[in-house]
Amino acid sequence: MRVTVVGTGYVGLVSGTCFSEFGHEIICVDKDADKIERLKAGEIPIYEPGLDQLVEKNVREERLHFTTDLAEAVPGSDAVFIAVGTPSRRGDGHADLSYVYAAAEEIASLLEGYTVVVTKSTVPVGTGREIEKLISNIRPEADFDVASNPEFLREGAAIEDFMRPNRIVIGTDSARAREIMRDLYRPLYLNETPIVNTARETSELIKYASNAFLATKISFINEIADLCEVLGADVQDVARGMGLDKRIGPKFLHAGPGYGGSCFPKDTLALLRTGELNQVPLKIVEAVVDVNRERKLKMADRIIEACGGSVEGKKIAVLGLAFKPNTDDMRESPALDIIPVLQQNGAEVHAFDPAAMEEARNYLTDIRYASSPYDAMDGADALVIVTEWNEFRALDLKRVKSLLNSPLLVDLRNIYAKANPAAEGFDYYGVGKGRVIER
Ligand code: UDX
Repeated sequence: MRVTVVGTGYVGLVSGTCFSEFGHEIICVDKDADKIERLKAGEIPIYEPGLDQLVEKNVREERLHFTTDLAEAVPGSDAVFIAVGTPSRRGDGHADLSYVYAAAEEIASLLEGYTVVVTKSTVPVGTGREIEKLISNIRPEADFDVASNPEFLREGAAIEDFMRPNRIVIGTDSARAREIMRDLYRPLYLNETPIVNTARETSELIKYASNAFLATKISFINEIADLCEVLGADVQDVARGMGLDKRIGPKFLHAGPGYGGSCFPKDTLALLRTGELNQVPLKIVEAVVDVNRERKLKMADRIIEACGGSVEGKKIAVLGLAFKPNTDDMRESPALDIIPVLQQNGAEVHAFDPAAMEEARNYLTDIRYASSPYDAMDGADALVIVTEWNEFRALDLKRVKSLLNSPLLVDLRNIYAKANPAAEGFDYYGVGKGRVIER
């Protein structure tokens, strides 16, 4: 099969590359000429474990191509995926669909023969219908269907998630379009991945409902963590005790500094807007968003309180800047709420992140970037863990203690909670670990 993927951002590049690995001929298109040149040279613009080898292999085997010219790609394609960005629109939180519609317009003029136009970008319910109208207006004679096929990729595990998904969701009423989608995903059909064949609107909503539900689990456990601290309970045990109930499940019940990234914050806001526009109040999602926003802001106060009420003139070591491990993505990272507040309160911040320091320079100022976790904490008055990278999980606590000015460890991801750092002489603060900071 021949497939065009429009947009070489996270979703487009991972999907295009994995489809080529399935044996299809894939042409990835992006307007950014510099990015396309770099991709052709095998340079990957995002940090995603395993992606570089997969791109290199499929480019070498001539199944994966990159171009800036949509006209080289679309004519003769069986499917055209729209995988351009849908950022939150400033002001109202609605998804900005200008890139999606611009891509659809261009695709319309180039369609040749029957083609399925597929939305892979997360688009509000009803967007597929709008795209269909738009293409029909431009090319009334074009032979096409518009299907929805949302992605559920986690950054840092995107290839695994593509190759071994929990499910594939395909939204279309057209049997012809469904057949093409089935051929495209054939290896996954063969290994019995569950397929949800449904209407386009339903498929579009599945994506938002899934992300909003996961965000709900996180905000829920974060509120329970606050309660644990006051009651002297342990949120990790509460989560385990809850999660063993199969109806609840153990995942996404890790208390922490609040969710970030490119999906949850954006998609929950967009879902709220959809609710408002359709006069359906989504009170739970609204609470989830508020709880998360407040939580990220509260984390800096928590650090200041652990430092005895002031960080003026203190050196604070921050481990982890990315919104989660195995990515260099800084979007909506809790570090972006925490670090500026520490700085405004007079702290000097020394930070280390295994992948995101370069990216962090676009967001944060006046930080000293360290060459290793130990370099960051040398002479610091407190060590704060913001992101749970594996390489922070097995620090030599004796060495940590000897390097720190005072043995204060604020662990916003609870990665040391079970190691009992207090026994090693640390003043230890986890999250939801039944230890109340005196206010
Ligand atoms: C998410 C969805 O998982 C994926 O299906 C969707 O397609 C895109 O959005 P991603 O944003 O890459 O993926 O990261 P994910 O691993 O889901 O984590 C999101 C955020 O939630 C991170 O900030 C993470 O630290 C936080 N989180 C996650 C918690 O705080 N606690 C948890 O238990 C799980």
